[in-house]
Amino acid sequence: VLIGTQWGDEGKGKIIDVLTRNTDMVVRFQGGNNAGHTVEIGDQKYVLHLIPSGIFRKETMNIIGNGLVVDPVSLQEEMEGLLGRGIAVDNLELSDKAHLILPYHRLMDAFKEGQLAEGKKIGTTKRGIGPAYTDKADRCGIRALDMLDIDNFKNKFEEHTARYNRIFAAAGCAGVDVAAEWPKLRAAALYLQAYIKDTVLTVNRAAKAGKNILFEGAQGTLLDIDHGTYPFVTSSNTTSGGACTGSGISPRYISDVYGVIKAYTTRVGEGPFQTELFGTEGENLRKAGNEFGATTGRPRRCGWFDAVASRYSCMVNGVNKLAITKMDVLDNLPELKICIAYDIDGKRYTEMPSDSQLLYKVKPVYESHPGWMCSTCHACCWDDLPVNAQKYLKRLAELVDSGIGIISVGPKRAQTFEVNI
Ligand code: GDP
Ligand code: IMO
Ligand code: MG
Repeated sequence: VLIGTQWGDEGKGKIIDVLTRNTDMVVRFQGGNNAGHTVEIGDQKYVLHLIPSGIFRKETMNIIGNGLVVDPVSLQEEMEGLLGRGIAVDNLELSDKAHLILPYHRLMDAFKEGQLAEGKKIGTTKRGIGPAYTDKADRCGIRALDMLDIDNFKNKFEEHTARYNRIFAAAGCAGVDVAAEWPKLRAAALYLQAYIKDTVLTVNRAAKAGKNILFEGAQGTLLDIDHGTYPFVTSSNTTSGGACTGSGISPRYISDVYGVIKAYTTRVGEGPFQTELFGTEGENLRKAGNEFGATTGRPRRCGWFDAVASRYSCMVNGVNKLAITKMDVLDNLPELKICIAYDIDGKRYTEMPSDSQLLYKVKPVYESHPGWMCSTCHACCWDDLPVNAQKYLKRLAELVDSGIGIISVGPKRAQTFEVNI
């Protein structure tokens, strides 16, 4: 299983693409097209939202698991986008049990965000993620398998749109126009039908046959609906346990948990961010790391590495292999800081509090490390790294209580190497 240990955008897409060298199957298990996973191959850059990051290797099977919420029109667009760039998608399956994001979910997402006062907004991607998971939990969702019978799909879509439109009308806003939306949905359903499969069987058969399977997490641990900075989270379990429920695989099959972790911290959207840097400090990190959302283009908030939150995250996920990304972004900083504890109202915390309201009051307790002030982007092994970079990495691993398995020093496939620290 590979998950994000922070607030997303740790570089999961890149690391998955590298790991799929030795992988038979990649399985996404949660989230939807709120995700933006960037993969750079040669001079080509791809941003994936729903399709697993193993799609670039023909021999690797890619599964969109039952735990996702799938916008059918977006998925069709993403598949056609890849095909248009010469990437085949016949090695893709969509779980018949995945729930659909439909136009009323997107509208409801935007509507609810609009209703919230400043300070209460979540800053969602407005892709309809929360409302689609709400319908799933409320047992009134429409699933991928419903698209196999177009008349049935149309009936359900009309019925649920009418239900939502009554809510929108009561709030005095325009609802979903069935006549405008249905043709797009119908076309998407017909396009996707051939890919809709019982993926629980596909995954379990592969596991039983001893195939190497990588489960691809989206978002990050601190956005997990149970373990994140609630309510400023997404609506799914982004943590390693979600791989089992979101794909139908037994925990008995999971051998390793990769935790992708940025050498500093970023967050997109609202909510507490304990080590956030403002002014020129934050701006410099954003520029050096090119920290702009891969899905919404929003500038990412940037800050120092938070060892308190990351240790909590590694514990919840059972991370045994860290993949540390974006080391190169720190190359020109004379001094680096790591947050090792929180001061909240004069009391010292070394464990992450559950209450987001407390997290807003955090004064980070930092330890300082000298930078290395030279380029790491050509490093190919541990010994290529400057001593100060090695010390920083070792300290980071010690603080989060996990071993390092992979280091990434740039966005390209080749700018990655394995270590055993
Ligand atoms: P994901 O959502 O976790 O897959 O991450 P994103 O793709 O949203 O954001 C990570 C960004 O950092 C992408 O633009 C990647 O190309 C880039 N990236 C990944 N690893 C590295 C790295 O080690 N160094 C640098 N400079 N960029 C990286
Ligand atoms: P990847 O997979 C970073 C954030 C949104 C918002 C919150 C809830 O690329 O790491 P949602 O639309 O899910 O209801 O929004 O979660 N968010 C992400 N932030 N990376 C992501 O995905 C994210 N997916 C959702 O910004 O704060
Ligand atoms: Mg991303």
